[in-house]
Amino acid sequence: MTARYNLLSPELKTNPYPAYAEMRRSAPVCQVDPGGMWAVTRLDDALFVLKNPQLFSSRGFGAATNPPWLGGNPFSESMITLDPPQHGRLRGLISRAFGASAMARMEPRVRAFAEQTVAELPLGEPVDIMPPYALRIPTSVIGDMMGLSPSLHARLKRWADLITGGVTTVRPDEHDRKQLARDAVAELRGCFGEVLEARRREPAEDLVSDLLQAEVDGEALTQGELIAFMALLLVGGIETVVHALGAALLVLLERPELWARLRADRSLIPAFIEEVLRYEPPVHAAPRTTTQEVELGGVTLPRGAPLLVLLGSATRDEAHFPDGDRFDLERTGPKHLPFGHGVHFCLGAPLARMEARLALDVLFDRVGGLSRGAEPMTWHRTLVVRGVGSLPIVLHPA
Ligand code: HEM
Repeated sequence: MTARYNLLSPELKTNPYPAYAEMRRSAPVCQVDPGGMWAVTRLDDALFVLKNPQLFSSRGFGAATNPPWLGGNPFSESMITLDPPQHGRLRGLISRAFGASAMARMEPRVRAFAEQTVAELPLGEPVDIMPPYALRIPTSVIGDMMGLSPSLHARLKRWADLITGGVTTVRPDEHDRKQLARDAVAELRGCFGEVLEARRREPAEDLVSDLLQAEVDGEALTQGELIAFMALLLVGGIETVVHALGAALLVLLERPELWARLRADRSLIPAFIEEVLRYEPPVHAAPRTTTQEVELGGVTLPRGAPLLVLLGSATRDEAHFPDGDRFDLERTGPKHLPFGHGVHFCLGAPLARMEARLALDVLFDRVGGLSRGAEPMTWHRTLVVRGVGSLPIVLHPA
């Protein structure tokens, strides 16, 4: 390999997998553009990085999303940007409120959101399925989970975009974009603060009330930590599920026989979701920074080197997934990598799996088949996430 790959080039945005395969073969840890970050492309190296936070810190994530002009970003203070031991304290407090009983409590509500969403989809005419289905379900779920009024749900994705990509891609002279990001931070702080106040006065059977009551060794979450966690839910819980649903529909659009098989036997949906997440992982990269000089994949990385653990490459690593470019419902092999590994393993994995399962189950009830719309589909990519941007299709009634 000679030239550096640019992960954000139109070619890699549309199909990064040939480039990932070439990197795994000839330079498994190598610098990529933009910015010369070090890409980690093989599964074994990816696991090594994610298992060793003392060598590979998550702090850079926070710094990148918190430029001085913003005046503070709650996402940048959330646990995804922390290392042990600070990370463990927050995770301990939060994961109790995010456990199996919370998921069981949520399932009927998630199903109801999916049913309402699918009932309103137009049948027999072209529709870009992303906004009214793939985006609407996770925003309703996260908004509801946080106790926000439905009138605010449509704003959540915009806030999430502004406090991540909107902050990291802004140029010094783009004053209007800076103001938009500052406004988003102020607005979400205000709305989250109101919900916290309301639940303090009158606790309910919901996540926010559980978080307010969570205690470890007599210690509870501070107001700043609560708002940071809510900002993390916006960023971590919406676009990821949007891309999981977009990828599921794309796979099914290209495989009508698979659509018919799953529709007839819904018990196959969980295995289908796992393979969709391996084949088109919504999170293509987990960012880290080296805390000291370290040897990885035959390369000596200096202290402070920014890394991208390319989950999107590791899930196609031929050493673990034979014929990894083929979608295979019967595939065996490691399952959890699309949700990360180690201390930061996705807290929302059970919720994401539930949302995807119910969203598909309900769609199969009303829709008999899919076909492409006239317009071409588009891909969306940032350094961290990748997935379907728009997907014009026709839904045929059952
Ligand atoms: C298919 C959907 C999803 C995928 C593929 C996904 C993927 C991931 C990955 C790869 C990480 C680790 C990042 C790292 O190591 O730097 C992560 C962390 C996290 N995710 Fe998810 N996620 C999904 C859905 C969700 C949902 C629905 C929620 C919440 C409602 C959520 C909440 C979180 C949180 C809070 C963390 C941080 C955990 C920590 O720092 O300890 N995720 N996710």
